[in-house]
Amino acid sequence: MKKVTLLDIKRMKQEGRKIVMITAYDYPFAKIFDPIVEIILVGDSLGTVLYGYDTTLPVTMEDMIRHTKAAEAGRERSFLVSDMPFMSFQVSPSAAVENACRLVKEGGAEAVKLEGGVSVFETIVKMTSFDIPVMGHVGLTPQSIHRMGGYRIQGKEKEARSKIIEDARAVEEAGAFSIVLEGIPAELASEITKELSIPTIGIGAGSGCDGQVLVMHDILGLLPDFKPKFVKRYAELAPLVEQAVREFAEEVRKGDFPGTEHTFYLTEN
Ligand code: KIV
Repeated sequence: MKKVTLLDIKRMKQEGRKIVMITAYDYPFAKIFDPIVEIILVGDSLGTVLYGYDTTLPVTMEDMIRHTKAAEAGRERSFLVSDMPFMSFQVSPSAAVENACRLVKEGGAEAVKLEGGVSVFETIVKMTSFDIPVMGHVGLTPQSIHRMGGYRIQGKEKEARSKIIEDARAVEEAGAFSIVLEGIPAELASEITKELSIPTIGIGAGSGCDGQVLVMHDILGLLPDFKPKFVKRYAELAPLVEQAVREFAEEVRKGDFPGTEHTFYLTEN
C-alpha cells in the first residue's frame, strides 16, 4: 500500500482527481478508514461528537494529542492531519508553532489544520518555515461561533464573500498546502477552487471543491438527532449498535451468555 503524501494531495488537484477526507479520533476507526481515504482528520469536532460539548471551544491540546496518537496507531497509508484547538494558535505565532510541533512530535500528525485567513497569515508563514505543513480553514469556522451568532452559512452577502475570498488567498499566500471551505455557497466555493492553486476540501460547500470531508459520526449515523442539510448518511449505525447491546443485555439477564463456547474449563487443553 503506497503511502499518501502531501505531494500526492497537491498532484490530485492538478490531475482533477477528487480528494477524500474523513474525521477519525481513535485506533479502530482510523484502521478501517485508512485504506479508503487520502486524508484522516483528527478534528476538534471531537469536542462535540465524542465529548458531547455544545461547541469545539473547550477542546484542549491534551485532547488533540491523545486522539491524534490513537488515530495514528491505526493509520499506515493515509495522510494524518490534526486540528489546532481554540487558544492553541490565536495568542501568538510562536505559541502556535510550539503547539503545532507538539501535534507532530507527540501525536504523530503529518500536518496541522487551523481556522482563519488573514488573521492567521503570520502564524501559517511561521509554521511552514519550520516545515510543518498547514491546512487552512475558512468560511464557517466553528471556533468563531460567538462572532457568527451560531453555526450559519457564511458568505451570503457580497461583502462577506469578498472577505472569504481574501481569507482563502491569504491562506494560500502564507504557504498552506490545502484549505477547508466550510459552510459557504457552492458558487463561492467553486470560484475559490478555480482561483487557488492549492486543493480545496469542502464541507457544506457544494461539489465544486477539489475534495470533500465529513465528520465520521455524521456519515455513519452514530448521532441520529444531528442531520444538517450538507450531511449524507451512508449508514444508520446507532439503531444497529442499540440492537446489539439490547441482545447482549437480554442474554446476560436470561443466563444465555456466556455459553459453553465462550467459557474456559479446567479440563480444557
Ligand atoms: O473539526 C472538524 O472535524 C473539522 C472538519 C469538519 C472540517 O474541522
